[in-house]
Amino acid sequence: MPQESENSRRKTVVISGATGGIGRFLCRQLRQEGWWVVILSRQADMPADIAADMAVTCDLMDAGAIATAGVAIREACPRIDLFISCAGTISPQTVGVLDGERVRRQVETNLTGVILLTQEVLPNIAVGGRILFVNSMAGVFPLAGSAVYTASKFGLRGFARALAQELRPRGIHVLSVFPGSVDTPMFRDEMEQGGSLLNFMSWPQAPERAAAWILAAARGRKEEHFPSIIDRIFPPLFLCSPVFLRLCMPVMTVWSRLTRWCYRRRHGRG
Ligand SMILES: NC(=O)c1ccc[n+]([C@@H]2O[C@H](COP(=O)([O-])OP(=O)(O)OC[C@H]3O[C@@H](n4cnc5c(N)ncnc54)[C@H](OP(=O)(O)O)[C@@H]3O)[C@@H](O)[C@H]2O)c1
Repeated sequence: MPQESENSRRKTVVISGATGGIGRFLCRQLRQEGWWVVILSRQADMPADIAADMAVTCDLMDAGAIATAGVAIREACPRIDLFISCAGTISPQTVGVLDGERVRRQVETNLTGVILLTQEVLPNIAVGGRILFVNSMAGVFPLAGSAVYTASKFGLRGFARALAQELRPRGIHVLSVFPGSVDTPMFRDEMEQGGSLLNFMSWPQAPERAAAWILAAARGRKEEHFPSIIDRIFPPLFLCSPVFLRLCMPVMTVWSRLTRWCYRRRHGRG
């Protein structure tokens, strides 16, 4: 548990998914900036290279564990300046052969668990504090072959937008970031399991760069952050008009194939 005097001197951030490809760089950078870093993980023994001041065990698929983690966090952190929800999971499968356990894992980790955890930390989020959801381009662009992940991230976007309205009068800023592909264990697993080719619409970003971009977003006033202007403009057009999506799909497919070929060559996989 943090020393009260030390904790009151330093700004406090609570991060889920902190052991992951992106999360560990978020922790590292925040710690370097002097934040008091509290992380959540399913792992009881924290990897030695994770930069954290306090670790709380929590499986987002377990509502009881989320409630227990909430008590520990509220006791240890009377004032939370930033909550980053970064935990997530993906299991590509086409609808028709969906395995119920994988559906549950994605919906509970990416959506239900995030909602419950947000509710647990909310009482201690300071006035002027921030809540940041790490979403995905799949939260605005439908990914065939990953319909459940897409559904969970679309749901997360809706939750964040509604929450932003609820919390604005309390002076709490809610924002979402929508990264494209990031070269992490999640991305590599996804590709091995036959993830969507359209992940290669952009070159997979290095996780440290993605983390720096996310933290820059955390300091801004915007509610939604996209990697580029194209990513901000095109997905809403695709959603407005399925015809537009169908027309653009051949170009996007060819482009993604080319990027994937280059990526595989660079990584010696084909
Ligand atoms: N990589 C990409 O291409 C990409 C692109 C767009 C968006 N994103 C989003 O970015 C976030 C981080 O992705 P990443 O690539 O860093 O993934 P990653 O390397 O696979 O890490 C996933 C993290 O989520 C945590 N996690 C998974 N299941 C959990 C559960 N049931 N309960 C609690 N924690 C759980 C893991 O923590 P423990 O194992 O320690 O419990 C781990 O820290 C995710 O929300 C993902 O959707 C990723």
